[in-house]
Amino acid sequence: MSFSDYYSRGQILSKRDCLSQSTVNCLSKIITDNLKGLEEYHASRILFIYVSFRSEVDTHQLIKERLNSGLEVAVPKTDVVNRRLEAFLLKDWGKDLRPGAYGILEPDTETASLIQPSQIDTIVIPGSVFDRQCGRQGYGGGYFDRFLSIETPQALRIGLAFSLQVLPEISMEKHDQRMDIIVTERETLRCNRNTNIVK
Ligand SMILES: Nc1ncnc2c1ncn2[C@@H]1O[C@H](COP(=O)(O)OP(=O)(O)OP(=O)(O)O)[C@@H](O)[C@H]1O
Ligand SMILES: [Mg+2]
Repeated sequence: MSFSDYYSRGQILSKRDCLSQSTVNCLSKIITDNLKGLEEYHASRILFIYVSFRSEVDTHQLIKERLNSGLEVAVPKTDVVNRRLEAFLLKDWGKDLRPGAYGILEPDTETASLIQPSQIDTIVIPGSVFDRQCGRQGYGGGYFDRFLSIETPQALRIGLAFSLQVLPEISMEKHDQRMDIIVTERETLRCNRNTNIVK
């Protein structure tokens, strides 16, 4: 990762942090409505989705809605020691989540149940910067890169972003994982992650 890549991640995150809470809420509603309009979202059975934190596209409402509808929803728990993500099925928003690593809401391992990553068919992913070829950078931990490439190669990958987070092109390293779909408040980008060509 070059200096200029860190610079663009930081710049974009600072911009995202400047959005007011009401703007985050309003744009997040549009983005999650766009997500809910996708055929792939409806086809998903075991959805693994990040629990939003700070100025990320808000996923709390969407997760609550899925739980209320009796749909499966798994969320990540960060294992900082082994630098990996674990997937837990939620049943009850109020009972099954606790602030964990980095203050992010995480599943309570006493009440939520651990699932095998191979059971997940669709993953909804946050990020710092994306590009129009569905490239993605996260926050520098490599957690999602490892999870996607090693543990969930079978799953469809959907990135959620405000359009200010999508640049024309970002540099990607070999380990950086591309998305299949990126959803913003303005558009849905679909890519073929193996050839990097926008469909
Ligand atoms: N599959 C992998 N195997 C080994 N190391 C990896 C793998 N994926 C990423 N890493 C390492 O993780 C570190 C952080 O990677 P990177 O900067 O791409 O994180 P990120 O994409 O911002 O984070 P995240 O994936 O959690 O959103 C790098 O040192 C990278 O080499
Ligand atoms: Mg990466």
